[in-house]
Amino acid sequence: MRVGCPKEIKNHEYRVGLTPESARELVAQGNEVWIETQAGAGIDATDDQYVEAGAKIVDTPDEIFAECEMIVKVKEPQAIERAKLRVDQILYTYLHLAPDPEQTVDLMNSGVTAIAYETVTGPRGQLPLLKPMSQVAGRMSVQAGASALEKAHGGRGVLLGGVPGVMPGKVAVIGGGVVGFNAAQMAVGLGADVTILDRDPEVLEKVGTFFEARASTRFSNRANLYDAVTQADLVIGAVLIPGAAAPKLVTREMLGDMQNGAVLVDVAIDQGGCFETSKPTTHAEPTYVIDDIVHYCVANMPGAVARTSTYALNNVTLPHALRIARMGWKEALRADEHLAAGLNVHKGKVTYKAVADELGYEYRSLEDVLG
Ligand SMILES: NC(=O)c1ccc[n+]([C@@H]2O[C@H](COP(=O)([O-])OP(=O)(O)OC[C@H]3O[C@@H](n4cnc5c(N)ncnc54)[C@H](O)[C@@H]3O)[C@@H](O)[C@H]2O)c1
Repeated sequence: MRVGCPKEIKNHEYRVGLTPESARELVAQGNEVWIETQAGAGIDATDDQYVEAGAKIVDTPDEIFAECEMIVKVKEPQAIERAKLRVDQILYTYLHLAPDPEQTVDLMNSGVTAIAYETVTGPRGQLPLLKPMSQVAGRMSVQAGASALEKAHGGRGVLLGGVPGVMPGKVAVIGGGVVGFNAAQMAVGLGADVTILDRDPEVLEKVGTFFEARASTRFSNRANLYDAVTQADLVIGAVLIPGAAAPKLVTREMLGDMQNGAVLVDVAIDQGGCFETSKPTTHAEPTYVIDDIVHYCVANMPGAVARTSTYALNNVTLPHALRIARMGWKEALRADEHLAAGLNVHKGKVTYKAVADELGYEYRSLEDVLG
């Protein structure tokens, strides 16, 4: 198969879909790999390294979109890229369609077969292609929140770890999944006073057992959320309902009851955000203030630590890419129900139920597509 990897064009996105090492694996299995020139620049991977791995460097993304059977990317295709997608082409990347009707309609119109990293499942129902980015974003959320809490950045001037004789900062982590767990690890490591809220008793048990007395756990209901959010210096939004838009757990009204200069970091912004006042921001301008509350809502947090993130991502995406290239997408999906769960759009139809329901499209089942 001819596999192509264009340079990412989203604002401050430095990751790349294929590392030179991944390109080498694909080539070793008999595939052709086309890489857009400078695609790896953000992680310090040179064109020469790709050539040495057996890939071909092309000058423009147009050649890749026109000639390659599978496009491997990191972020969802931007409008200019979507216009180049074709029927009978496979798009393998993060999509996050539920909160993005414009992208969904463009993918449907293109006829492309779009496999979304974020809905590929694992044997225990987890989301293994989301996990490494969630680990990165969870860890970064505390760094970002700590920085936003500084007075010069609009925050309330609180050091999360405190100092001897002064109380540490209070951190509320909403959602104790991968992002929340990693955020809590960092916040606990800094010496903050950490509360983790989740509505899944098993998650509460897992984090409770892991952190023991170093963090508190609370069931996520309206009353407990209100308490934790209004007392916190830093709130980290880390909830997920797979494939669906995030529930708005912190309302605009609640901001008035929070402490002045408190910080909201909405990691779930890529699913629409779990705070009513969240709107996506970029690394160029990561924060804004509403009602004296600092909001950090960067939708592609891992892009800022592109090297770590690219290698972590390739570790989990490459095995499926190799299988799709070897077997063709249909056989690969038939052979692996977990990869099949990644199919979101095919030949103009939405094939992921939560996305179809969210955006009001007719749902075409996997059984129907795979035959
Ligand atoms: N902004 C970024 O750069 C970035 C990077 C990676 C992941 N993310 C996003 O972060 C979010 C979390 O991802 P994850 O991997 O941790 O998911 P996860 O499934 O591991 O964890 C989500 C948790 O949210 C909990 N939850 C659901 N509804 C809740 C509620 N009402 N109250 C409290 N908890 C609730 C679930 O029980 C689960 O434990 C996702 O939207 C993901 O797309 C964003």
